[in-house]
Amino acid sequence: HCFLTALSFAALLVVGTGTKLWEVPTGPFTSSSNFSENPQWEPHCQYRNVQDRVRITADIPPRLDGTWVSTSCEVRPSPEFLTRSYTFHPNRHFQALQHYYTDSGCEDPSYSLIIRGKIRLRQASWITRGGTEAEHHLTKVGIVVHSLAAKQRLSSRLPSTCVGLNLGQVVPGKFYELYSTRAGRGCLAALGFSMMEMSLVRVETQYHNHGWKVQELFLGDIHTDWTQRIQYKPTGYQQPLQNAMHHIHPCPVCALVYRSTEQRPPVLPRSPVAHLSLGGQWVSQHCETRPNVLFLTRDFTFDPHQHAWEGIYRHYSDPACSQPTFTLRASGHYAQGNPSVKISGASEFVFKVTQVRATAMEVPTAKLLNSTKPGKCGQARGWEVGVEQDLTPTDGCTVLGIKLPHKEYELFKIELDHRKHPLLFIGERPTDGSSPDRPLRRPTSFQAPMVFCSGRSTQVSRSGFKSKQCILLTLTVAACC
Ligand SMILES: *[C@@H]1O[C@H](CO)[C@@H](O)[C@H](O)[C@H]1NC(C)=O
Ligand SMILES: *[C@@H]1O[C@H](CO)[C@@H](O)[C@H](O)[C@H]1NC(C)=O
Repeated sequence: HCFLTALSFAALLVVGTGTKLWEVPTGPFTSSSNFSENPQWEPHCQYRNVQDRVRITADIPPRLDGTWVSTSCEVRPSPEFLTRSYTFHPNRHFQALQHYYTDSGCEDPSYSLIIRGKIRLRQASWITRGGTEAEHHLTKVGIVVHSLAAKQRLSSRLPSTCVGLNLGQVVPGKFYELYSTRAGRGCLAALGFSMMEMSLVRVETQYHNHGWKVQELFLGDIHTDWTQRIQYKPTGYQQPLQNAMHHIHPCPVCALVYRSTEQRPPVLPRSPVAHLSLGGQWVSQHCETRPNVLFLTRDFTFDPHQHAWEGIYRHYSDPACSQPTFTLRASGHYAQGNPSVKISGASEFVFKVTQVRATAMEVPTAKLLNSTKPGKCGQARGWEVGVEQDLTPTDGCTVLGIKLPHKEYELFKIELDHRKHPLLFIGERPTDGSSPDRPLRRPTSFQAPMVFCSGRSTQVSRSGFKSKQCILLTLTVAACC
């Protein structure tokens, strides 16, 4: 099992032991139900000055009114490249524009979808704390194909009777109906299209100094397995959209996406190629919500000379990352492979986890780990709150789903943000909780980006190296353990 995703299993077990990991909502909203949470996690290295700090709140239920836009070219599993502009009206009607591209820079538009429907907020999520469950109803989906090449590609995916009457007669630039309440959903399914992302919503407001604010709309995640994506009910989020009136500055992409129509898709400017090394420390920008109910922050250090890495995963029971449950410190080696063929600008990696240390941060987790059989999870009966234990001598920890040594096939990408600060994108975990332990399972999309903290030669802890006598070559991994 993958040690990163199998932790959700641990979270479920902790629930079973009776902690208040999941907050039971009181029922559907009434107009007066209103509370706001204040996420507390702040990456200690992101803000050079105290006055740069931001305060973040998330209202439940969220207010969706307005237009929300992509801030960059988005990558969905498979991979698909797109930009989105979603408008919600006070009468619960929405109009969603999705522009699809052939390239990872969103420079070559392929087709655009215009989606109309209604959304209704239901209740605070029982599963994903901090999120709100919603129901949606589609009334119309239309398509505009932008080139003959795009039409050819669509012909290979869609039944020939889909678009309007006949795909063969489609003229680039012209609007065609793909779905209406009278027609069936066959054409949408063939496109892998679904708006299940609207089943889970969250709006965060960041209050910056000097009186400006940024609002982000988080919608449900897309299943990493193409065959599951239409039915999948999200429990995590995609990369957020930003409010067209309250977004980061500067954001040239926001303006392009905001002004786009289905006839005129935004063509994003070529971003400068970031030739940056992985070396140094990277941390989460926010408290992250994962599918299968995980709230965590990540803190990675890479040492390119030693091909060594260490990752600290701090887990929490709440979407503000204020109540720690346990922390994992994993380390091992990595090797950089070839540039990705599927996503230009990204690179393939292989990671090996040779050591994991765990710290229970609260009594229920300590008790859970303490009750494991000898030889299954570190030193039996040795678990105490705040005391780190090495899981390497027991080859991992069954109850946490950690098995050592462990290998993962990865996809990394480094980009510059709007302030020209580097961002590190690490491959999305498979939604089904499995591990990318084979080249075929290598991710095709990314997790939330991490920010660069420091390039000072923070040494990856030495003890990570000695546990197994593995030899990693630069480009190939010798599976010798
Ligand atoms: C929630 O309450 C706060 C303060 O009581 C108020 O400022 C805010 O507008 C309310 N939000 C909603 C969605 O009603
Ligand atoms: C774990 O078990 C040992 C031995 O039974 C006990 O002394 C210790 O208090 C336990 N720790 C927790 C957190 O319950």
